[in-house]
Amino acid sequence: MPQSHTIRTQVAIVGAGPAGLLLGQLLHRAGIDAVLIERQSADYVLGRIRAGVLEQVTMDLLDEAGVGQRMHAEGLVHSGFDMVCEGLRKRVDLAALTGGKTVMVYGQTEVTRDLMEARQSAGLPTYYEAQSVQIQDFDTAHPRVVFEHGGHTVGVECDFIAGCDGFHGVCRANVPQGAMQTFEKVYPFGWLGILSDTQPLHHELIYASTVRGFVLCSQRSHTRSRYYLQVPLTDTLDQWSDEAFWDELRLRLGPQQCASLVTGPSIEKSIAPLRSFVAEPMRFGRLFLAGDAAHIVPPTGAKGLNLAASDVKYLSQALRDFYLERSNAGVDHYSDRCLRRVWRAERFSWWFTTLMHRFPADATIDNKLKYAELDYVLHSEAGLRSLAENYVGLPLDFAQAGA
Ligand code: APR
Ligand code: PHB
Repeated sequence: MPQSHTIRTQVAIVGAGPAGLLLGQLLHRAGIDAVLIERQSADYVLGRIRAGVLEQVTMDLLDEAGVGQRMHAEGLVHSGFDMVCEGLRKRVDLAALTGGKTVMVYGQTEVTRDLMEARQSAGLPTYYEAQSVQIQDFDTAHPRVVFEHGGHTVGVECDFIAGCDGFHGVCRANVPQGAMQTFEKVYPFGWLGILSDTQPLHHELIYASTVRGFVLCSQRSHTRSRYYLQVPLTDTLDQWSDEAFWDELRLRLGPQQCASLVTGPSIEKSIAPLRSFVAEPMRFGRLFLAGDAAHIVPPTGAKGLNLAASDVKYLSQALRDFYLERSNAGVDHYSDRCLRRVWRAERFSWWFTTLMHRFPADATIDNKLKYAELDYVLHSEAGLRSLAENYVGLPLDFAQAGA
């Protein structure tokens, strides 16, 4: 019979991905106790390769959390990106179109590493490899999280539970059916991604819509590249040797665009599905969902990590108001405040994905209409400004500003 012990904290955070770690750090800096409970090992969490474009809001939050130093030292500030469609190539000048706003290219893995190191340095409690995690009584003022760890049954008595446990987590799964409405769109293709220690094709990102499918040329540094190819959902990794990947990339972009392509062995290769997903509301009594636990965007707009960060900012503010100001306003408005921003990002990610990818069901007229839209957007000040302001991200208080 495993021994059991109980610990007491103010906030139990389920999930130690970017959302859980950032929330833990922001709460710590506000003097609010939190315990992190993570199903996987720290190495496993660090091994996940995810997107790498940070909005200014996310950069500011990492600075506020006291973990922005390495990002500023090693991250790449990008003031634009290129769009390619058939013979058309156009740079979207983000800075010129948004009054000077830029994005930071800095891998999510590095963000996670910086947050993990800060938490470890502060000696804050994180239970990795927690098994059979259960959330209980979150519709009362005394919620609990129970899990198995190192042969013990651990019970966490808390005031709030933050569900930062991603799309496949336990928290959303425990919300009573009638209490939540979900919205989902699954895209009929996936992204085949490759990571290689090669010089990036271009100094900025390239988003390409081609007759053979979508291409994204991204990067992690001046010596590490990240490429994506749209592939059918039925494709598997064993169909894609490194050579097959590079050949397809050349076929899609053409010899001129690939004249300076540097290829090399993959250090990571994976196929990911694309979906749009939102769960409403994001709060159930003393349980708050944040990040992928509440919503998923197709990665085209690089919004996943940035949405997780803004959820966490709103939640950390709400919990500060509760504990430090004795106000329930923040917790009561958390869900509505997050969802207005979430749906803006969902809309942009869906639009950008639909515009840039070839759908199996598309008729030739659909491709002509998509090309015409791209041609319009890339040659219209209004179209470029709309694309740019959504790409760099909305300010945190956009709703208050009446935008
Ligand atoms: N108990 C404890 N931890 C769990 C459980 C569980 N039952 N289920 C999942 N987890 C952990 C996962 O192992 C993962 O480390 O929760 C964490 C969730 O992290 P993410 O999936 O990275 O989600 P989030 O922190 O919201 O970050 C969103 O990550 O996946 C990317 O594209 C996404 O960029 C976005 C960002
Ligand atoms: C990435 O570098 O992984 C990346 C960059 C931009 C995107 C999506 C993914 O839009």
